[in-house]
Amino acid sequence: MSAIFNRRAATVARATLVALCALVILIPTVAMLWVRTPWARGEHRRIVQPVPFDHRIHVTGLRIDCRYCHSGVERSASAGLPSTQKCVSCHTQLWRAGSPMEPIRQSVATGRPIPWRRVTQLPDFVYFNHSIHVNKGVGCESCHGRIDQAAEVEQAAPLTMSWCVDCHRNPAPTLRPLEAVTTQGYVPPGGDRDIELAAVLMKRYQIHSLANCTTCHR
Ligand code: HEC
Ligand code: HEC
Ligand code: HEC
Ligand code: HEC
Ligand code: HEC
Repeated sequence: MSAIFNRRAATVARATLVALCALVILIPTVAMLWVRTPWARGEHRRIVQPVPFDHRIHVTGLRIDCRYCHSGVERSASAGLPSTQKCVSCHTQLWRAGSPMEPIRQSVATGRPIPWRRVTQLPDFVYFNHSIHVNKGVGCESCHGRIDQAAEVEQAAPLTMSWCVDCHRNPAPTLRPLEAVTTQGYVPPGGDRDIELAAVLMKRYQIHSLANCTTCHR
């Protein structure tokens, strides 16, 4: 009896040990895989804005230039969000209580900006600058996706370090002529892989491979 018990106990002990070892490997592996998924990165997460602003109406329908509302994008580090004044220049009517435009009315009345929620955001220890990208032919679309088709803006890129560095190592394929930086659905004149144009733009905008740590961590 006791021999059987001992043998069984030994088997259980061995199985437990194997299971524990497996867990010690499995848990960090799963965690490491998880943090790389689009879900963990916050990609495509739904963010509800105070006013249901729709880029499709304003960009695709009314053909308003991105830079009318995001006026810092060519000149400074941040693109900036539009002041309420920019909305009111077109939306002049007074809204009934309960209208989705209510926060605009409140903003005009109080002078406080509409509390837009950020969608794309880097940690504070990373240095990013819009103007350098936009002035060297990197289009909004390359990092923010098809804004002209977005009912609500979502984070369109993983925003990981390797996402930034991958492009910095080989930026040529993503470059466009400056006239096309805000174009949505851009296709290079020579087709999807216009290698000649890429080489011309690398030269024209004097672009280098910037993968030093101090480029983004200052
Ligand atoms: C160049 C003029 C213009 C500007 C600037 C503008 N809009 Fe509009 N917006 C329009 C037009 C035109 C419509 C379509 C109205 C319709 O279909 O009834 C519209 C529709 C909307 C709608 C859909 C709801 C509705 O009334 O039909 C919202 C919400 C909205 N705009 C918010 C804003 C906000 C917020 C801003 C500022 C960031 C802004 N708009 C700037 C012209 C403009
Ligand atoms: C009429 C004004 C207007 C125009 C034109 C406009 N936007 Fe916006 N944009 C807004 C407002 C208001 C928000 C904040 C609410 C939201 O996220 O929808 C916003 C948000 C964004 C965001 C998300 C910001 C964040 O926190 O990550 C991106 C990206 C963006 N716009 C890109 C573009 C691009 C690209 C274009 C041109 C193709 C464009 N916008 C044209 C008003 C505008
Ligand atoms: C190289 C990638 C890249 C390009 C190109 C780019 N953006 Fe961005 N954008 C970002 C990142 C990253 C953030 C978040 C920055 C942060 O948190 O400091 C951001 C944030 C924003 C924001 C919200 C915060 C802010 O900066 O005010 C808006 C609006 C925006 N971008 C609009 C645009 C528009 C419009 C264009 C094209 C004219 C554009 N972006 C081109 C990567 C890019
Ligand atoms: C789609 C391509 C692309 C992506 C994605 C991209 N960059 Fe860039 N970045 C460029 C190009 C092109 C330049 C200009 C290089 C040059 O001037 O030689 C640049 C320049 C910069 C500079 C300016 C360096 C300086 O001071 O001269 C910084 C800072 C920077 N990027 C940070 C970032 C960060 C942070 C991210 C990720 C959140 C990022 N970039 C993602 C293409 C990209
Ligand atoms: C082109 C821009 C860029 C360059 C170049 C770059 N980083 Fe980063 N780094 C980032 C971004 C963006 C993040 C934030 C990633 C995130 O939120 O997960 C980051 C995050 C980090 C972190 C925090 C831990 C982590 O992985 O989230 C460390 C540490 C770091 N970088 C070190 C370095 C070192 C060392 C170098 C040089 C070999 C370097 N970085 C070069 C953009 C850059």
